[in-house]
Amino acid sequence: MPGNIVLIGFMASGKTTVGRLLAGKLGWNFFDTDTEVEKKASCSIAELFAREGEAYFRELEKEVIARLMEGTRAVVSTGGGAVLAPENVERLRRGNKVIWLKVDEATVWRRVAGSAGRPLVRGRSREEVAALLKKREPYYSFADLKIDTAAKGPEEIVEEIMEGLKGWPAGCRWS
Ligand code: S3P
Repeated sequence: MPGNIVLIGFMASGKTTVGRLLAGKLGWNFFDTDTEVEKKASCSIAELFAREGEAYFRELEKEVIARLMEGTRAVVSTGGGAVLAPENVERLRRGNKVIWLKVDEATVWRRVAGSAGRPLVRGRSREEVAALLKKREPYYSFADLKIDTAAKGPEEIVEEIMEGLKGWPAGCRWS
């Protein structure tokens, strides 16, 4: 049975944009774990962090990942911190293909500076965000496929993913 295609990577690496595009090309469903958490909590990620704290957000994120990984033939974009919990990593890997969208520090900063929707960035300096990116990178390295996204548009990234996943799932046509 084919599994899912899971996109991991730091904040603002393009997981949602690329994931939606890829799912459209494959004719697969698309899910974004942050959106699923927001639906579950009936509020935005920023509000959830402010009201209940990060630990509560991580619990909901875990539940969402467990539910989505029971399904198949979906493209799933994950929040940048989803891979911090070993049980999430275990679920994301099992029977699925995990793609790491690798992004550079300058691009991250350009995209997130002043962002109100990302609580882990709010009030942080460029140096602090860069340090967080550096600390997080080893957590993404378990991916089956690493895509360097620097200077590439979403279409190009999707092409690269499809090329990299040729032959998977075995015996299955893409759409
Ligand atoms: C987080 C990344 C966010 C969101 C939350 C925490 C993180 O998702 O899950 O703000 O810990 O890196 P994006 O990667 O989609 O911004």
